[in-house]
Amino acid sequence: MGNPHSHGAQCSHDAPQKHGQEECPDNGHDESKRDFIFISAASMAAVGTGVVAWPFVATLGPAKDTLALSTTEIDLSPIQEGQAVTVMWRGKPVFIRRRTAQDIELARKVDGDATAFNSLRDKQKDTDRVKQSTFGGKEMPQWLVMVGVCTHLGCVPMGQKPTDMRGDFDGWFCPCHGSHYDSAGRIRKGPAPHNLAVPTYTFLSENRIRIG
Ligand code: FES
Repeated sequence: MGNPHSHGAQCSHDAPQKHGQEECPDNGHDESKRDFIFISAASMAAVGTGVVAWPFVATLGPAKDTLALSTTEIDLSPIQEGQAVTVMWRGKPVFIRRRTAQDIELARKVDGDATAFNSLRDKQKDTDRVKQSTFGGKEMPQWLVMVGVCTHLGCVPMGQKPTDMRGDFDGWFCPCHGSHYDSAGRIRKGPAPHNLAVPTYTFLSENRIRIG
């Protein structure tokens, strides 16, 4: 049951390089590693096509009815391991990444190392940043859902597109003033004071979430 009101757009990694905005730059990161898709909650079927949507996203922003939405439902099933998707929710980008085993291992290494954990600016375990589903309590560590707004001064960090810089901790990098977030979205270096925020969301099934 997709939400009929959303007006997002999509950007795939094979789209021509005419982005013109900071969250979709091309810096030569491994293209095979991760797809990037900017996607509407209501049009998941269009995932993976080569539509060039950046100018639309950059200039128009979400429609008023999208801004007013309190919840958005997302079908996760088209998102492959290693892929990242950005959806608009309440006028903000929300990053959804289907993490690889390596992404999870990297994040949880910090959880299990007291020195590393205590060095975190905003101490939060990876296990506290992912959800247990509501159907049987199954942990879903592969799904990381975060508001894609840097906690320093509000830029949109890079790291969703496969060619993006992902910073020193293989997560996200904010080019505005150089904040580095790890694969759990925790701030590790740079001026941002907090981890990328995890919005309220719920698993409606193994492959569907409702944000808000
Ligand atoms: S806004 Fe991201 S580092 Fe300043």
